[in-house]
Amino acid sequence: MAQTVAVCSLCLIVAFVSVSLCYSQGSTKHLKDIVLGRCWDFQRQKAHDVSTKNCSKIWETFYTAFAYKDPCNTTFADYASYFDEIGMDIVKPNKSLFWSGTYKEAHLFSDFDVRFTTLEDTMAGWIVNGLTWCGTKTNTSDGINYSSCPKQTTSCDYSTPFWGQASKRFAENASGIVRVMVNGTRMGSEHPIPAYRRDSFFGRYELPNFHVDRITRLIILVVHNIDGPDLESCGNGSIKLLQKDACDRGINTTCHDDPDDVRHLLCADQPRSRECWFFNGGTKKVTQPTEDDNRSWKLVAIIMLGIVAAFCLMAAVIGVVCVKTRRGKCIDSFNYRKHATDIEHET
Ligand SMILES: *[C@@H]1O[C@H](CO)[C@@H](O)[C@H](O)[C@H]1NC(C)=O
Ligand SMILES: *[C@@H]1O[C@H](CO)[C@@H](O)[C@H](O)[C@H]1NC(C)=O
Ligand SMILES: *[C@@H]1O[C@H](CO)[C@@H](O)[C@H](O)[C@H]1NC(C)=O
Ligand SMILES: *[C@@H]1O[C@H](CO)[C@@H](O)[C@H](O)[C@H]1NC(C)=O
Ligand SMILES: *[C@@H]1O[C@H](CO)[C@@H](O)[C@H](O)[C@H]1NC(C)=O
Ligand SMILES: *[C@@H]1O[C@H](CO)[C@@H](O)[C@H](O)[C@H]1NC(C)=O
Ligand SMILES: *[C@@H]1O[C@H](CO)[C@@H](O)[C@H](O)[C@H]1NC(C)=O
Ligand SMILES: *[C@@H]1O[C@H](CO)[C@@H](O)[C@H](O)[C@H]1NC(C)=O
Ligand SMILES: *[C@@H]1O[C@H](CO)[C@@H](O)[C@H](O)[C@H]1NC(C)=O
Repeated sequence: MAQTVAVCSLCLIVAFVSVSLCYSQGSTKHLKDIVLGRCWDFQRQKAHDVSTKNCSKIWETFYTAFAYKDPCNTTFADYASYFDEIGMDIVKPNKSLFWSGTYKEAHLFSDFDVRFTTLEDTMAGWIVNGLTWCGTKTNTSDGINYSSCPKQTTSCDYSTPFWGQASKRFAENASGIVRVMVNGTRMGSEHPIPAYRRDSFFGRYELPNFHVDRITRLIILVVHNIDGPDLESCGNGSIKLLQKDACDRGINTTCHDDPDDVRHLLCADQPRSRECWFFNGGTKKVTQPTEDDNRSWKLVAIIMLGIVAAFCLMAAVIGVVCVKTRRGKCIDSFNYRKHATDIEHET
């Protein structure tokens, strides 16, 4: 009896695992509400950049592209009316940022259009970024399959008609200096993945669609994990191939390994790693205090010491009183003061 139960549960687990291997998750719940909400919100945030667009119309063009259809059979043409309706934002010269294998870092770096503009910072990309959607031919209420979408394979490549086309249109509008951020430490489950692949979205839809006459230079930013390993760097491995492919298209490139502005962002997440110690040494070196600075700092230090001493005395007195009365409040106020002096110290 126990054995049967064990075998059955094993079967169930195996079945479950194979099902989850074959199918990814279904379409995002509340897809329509999310798309409509993001569409209006984008226009609220970018009121100056985007002429008012009809979000119901945008949803309609998006929805009819895939609803009630076999997901493996959607085409570029299906989504064309969505991209025509929404248009491509005007990306300022020198601001386009492309990426491959560096999703998180590229978007931290672009900062939603503040520093640079990625595809996902444009309206067409932003309103569906991170969502999953696929249709179903069976007659359900809305023609969207919320239970599962096919796993992305070459034989059923259902996200490329959307994202490939978005990439293409975004690349066509790039001008001036363009940047691409690639990953020099990219690991698959077993083998390293090259930083640049000709079959990536960048290789297939972006680099080939640049209007070379409008592009002055391609800056390649190679990012490595803070603690390495540096599998590929400027001038070797697949990055050499990228430089060659760009050159063949008539685009000049310059390449930078871990530029400071990118590295500082990575260090924000791992401030204690050895490679990020430059924060302590570096800042002091750059702002060598002058004589005047030195004197005023001494004054500040003396005043601070005085404040701290007075404060300690006060705390001690209050502490004695409070231990007898209300304990919690006293500790709170102590922490608050300590925090405040910390902040003063840093500025
Ligand atoms: C927006 O598009 C919808 C659907 O196409 C349409 O019914 C509606 O009249 C449009 N609204 C405006 C203000 O144009
Ligand atoms: C895919 O769509 C085309 C036209 O859109 C149709 O002719 C073809 O039969 C479809 N294939 C499958 C497998 O559904
Ligand atoms: C783009 O960069 C080039 C070279 O640095 C500069 O000459 C040009 O003014 C920049 N264009 C804009 C719009 O910032
Ligand atoms: C580069 O790829 C590695 C492994 O695939 C990943 O852990 C890391 O976060 C990626 N780096 C960036 C900057 O995205
Ligand atoms: C959703 O897709 C899965 C796999 O593609 C399929 O087995 C299932 O029947 C679909 N569900 C609906 C409601 O069409
Ligand atoms: C889908 O179902 C609705 C009612 O639920 C029905 O009116 C319609 O004819 C069906 N369409 C197809 C293609 O079966
Ligand atoms: C963007 O590219 C499209 C297609 O090449 C073109 O029609 C459009 O005018 C471009 N827009 C801008 C702002 O460059
Ligand atoms: C590339 O650089 C060379 C040498 O600096 C220059 O002569 C050429 O005009 C540049 N090409 C482009 C497309 O900017
Ligand atoms: C590329 O260069 C880096 C450092 O210069 C080195 O660590 C790495 O092994 C090289 N990779 C290849 C593929 O040559």
